[in-house]
Amino acid sequence: MRSTIDFGSDWLFEGREPVTLPHSAVELPFAYFDETTYQRPFTYEKRFIADPAWAEREVALHFEGAMSDARVSLNGEEIAAHRDGYTPFEARLTSRLVDGENLVVVRIDGSENPEIPPFGGLLDFLTYAGIYRDVWLRISAPVHLANVKIETPDALADKKTVRICAEIANPQNLALTGTLIVRIKDGDTLVQTANVDVSACEAEIEMHGLAGLKLWDVDAPKLYQAEITIETPYGTDCTEHNFGFRTAEFTPEGFRLNGRPLKIRGLNRHQSFPYFGYALGRAAQERDAEILKHELKLNMVRTSHYPQSKWFLDRCDQVGLLVLEEIPGWHHIGDAAWKAEAIEDVRRMVRRDWNHPSIVLWGVRVNESPDDHEFYTETNRVAHELDTTRQTGGIRSHTDSEMLEDVYTMNDFILGMEEMGGNRPRTALRPISETTGLGHPVPYLVTEFNGHMLPSKSYDQEQRLTEQVIRHLTVLNAAYGDPGISGAIGWCAFDYQTHCDFGSGDRICHHGVMDMYREPKFAAYAYKSQCDRDDEVVLKPVTLWSRGERNGGGIVPLIVLTNCDEVELRYGGRPLIRLGPDSQTYPHLPHPPVVFERDHFVANELGILGMRWEDAIFVGYIAGKQVAEARFARNPVATTLEVVPDRDVVSAARRDCVRVVVRALDQVGNKLPYMFESVMISVTGEAECLGPTHVPLRGGATGFWLRATGTPGPINVAVTCAVFGTTTVDLRAA
Ligand code: GAL
Repeated sequence: MRSTIDFGSDWLFEGREPVTLPHSAVELPFAYFDETTYQRPFTYEKRFIADPAWAEREVALHFEGAMSDARVSLNGEEIAAHRDGYTPFEARLTSRLVDGENLVVVRIDGSENPEIPPFGGLLDFLTYAGIYRDVWLRISAPVHLANVKIETPDALADKKTVRICAEIANPQNLALTGTLIVRIKDGDTLVQTANVDVSACEAEIEMHGLAGLKLWDVDAPKLYQAEITIETPYGTDCTEHNFGFRTAEFTPEGFRLNGRPLKIRGLNRHQSFPYFGYALGRAAQERDAEILKHELKLNMVRTSHYPQSKWFLDRCDQVGLLVLEEIPGWHHIGDAAWKAEAIEDVRRMVRRDWNHPSIVLWGVRVNESPDDHEFYTETNRVAHELDTTRQTGGIRSHTDSEMLEDVYTMNDFILGMEEMGGNRPRTALRPISETTGLGHPVPYLVTEFNGHMLPSKSYDQEQRLTEQVIRHLTVLNAAYGDPGISGAIGWCAFDYQTHCDFGSGDRICHHGVMDMYREPKFAAYAYKSQCDRDDEVVLKPVTLWSRGERNGGGIVPLIVLTNCDEVELRYGGRPLIRLGPDSQTYPHLPHPPVVFERDHFVANELGILGMRWEDAIFVGYIAGKQVAEARFARNPVATTLEVVPDRDVVSAARRDCVRVVVRALDQVGNKLPYMFESVMISVTGEAECLGPTHVPLRGGATGFWLRATGTPGPINVAVTCAVFGTTTVDLRAA
């Protein structure tokens, strides 16, 4: 059997600094940094002892991702090179190992080498240098499994088929005879087994009549396991893969999952974090998928603009979050060699990720690049050749683009254009036919909107954050209203660091509905409030409940993002007004917001509430029953420093990276967005605080990630602020 060993500890960075992988070569400040500091070569090295037990075995290093242009050498000899920064690669150590100590050296180059996608032009995101994903040492039989493709050609049938195609590695060119055994499992329960003789480097098995199995769906993401074993005279190798039964189809009449129409409601995700760039490990990657699914209630994410961590995608499978994954790039297409590399990227992406049921569309264009007939004919051909089960898209922002893909995927930033001149009235989305220029309907998906049209900081004025809410609602409403639009994926989930050519001068694109710590802005609830009430009752008034915050004063229009039937505003303890959703402005949303306008208050003789200010309670009702409330104080005072870790128990063995959020709250638990005090973080016990330990609150909150040391035991977190004193939280590494 193979063993796969975490090879992330005890590396020496730049010849002097002991580090653990995943690792970011340069820790950038939060803002106003110099991004060129990581644009240079770096070296990682590790000494390890070859185990005599490896003698008859294949030994390889598996790198999940290194940015970029990685070259690996063993004992002075170069043994592998991989230019792309987003896909995995291997370095074969077999026969080059010496008895005793061995030295592996990995050279990466963070320069924006124009020969390698996504580089060559400007980029509105950063590509932080480092070995920023996991590295594994794999010891296996000389004949072993290289890759496995699992297809479910008739997923909707009662009796289902599974087709397995195994690629077998035989680097020593041994005479190949053996058996491939497939066990389809549901957790510990065996569903069906089959085997086939193997004599070549590819083996295929089809299993029929699998009965009583469930579909994978966004609400019930049922996963099965395919355990693949190869037995040869040289030993046994075994891998296990999650997969699911589902169909996914973009049609001119919208998207269908398992034959059922499903409107896509998504956001784009960059895989970056403050200070560590790309280099947060498994737990942080998984957490992002959970946030997108459970906190933002999305059903799709686009991995803009490159293949993302396997841990992230695995979690998307587990939580039921659809994925549009795309090749690296941004606007720029390079020369013939560059294009060849991009075509290779299609291959690497599809071959790495073809078993994820969550992935329903391959993005095979460089984001927002010009049309290029030959190049994109080829990227489409390669994706289709490798994977006949998924459609392709190619994300553009220009109209009348040549449609070489199965789905016309469009970044539509028309909303907000009216502010930039031109005489077109405010428009949510372009009509499909105007975008495509085609005389016939085609499968159509909006892959970006908003973003730079209204950068919105978590500490921006309420009026601007309200406009951010309105714009997201407006586009979602338009997408829901057009049956020809499969759905809309907004720009974007989280604020992200970027080059000086973009952002707010601070090198941050404040385009997220959440900030870089994944703390929600009001616009997050534009998405969240669209969820079913059975899932969660949402009631979020878009207000700081203060008369002087908006231009000219007052609090209207006051939007309440909610999936309740009605919302009542109680002012100073008195019921003032009770209103239903604004289905006139947002007729197509599953849950239009409740909007209190000036007139509503005039009718109650309170004008714009311009006299003595009072406390407020917003009460949500479903079917006449009170189900939720949100309270606001007339006189918010700094009361509590809340410290919330994502989990209380962290894995020591995996050296989990866990986010801890810190919030400044008033006496009724609302965030104090204009509280810019600093906090001191102290982590003791079996974890360390990653990044600076002295940080300001931004928008009333901040955060940090702690990383388990690897030893089980208690972890104590203390966060101190001059205004609040110290808040402590205890976790445990197990
Ligand atoms: C798009 C681009 C994104 C991001 C966004 C900002 O044009 O595809 O990467 O730059 O604009 O709104």
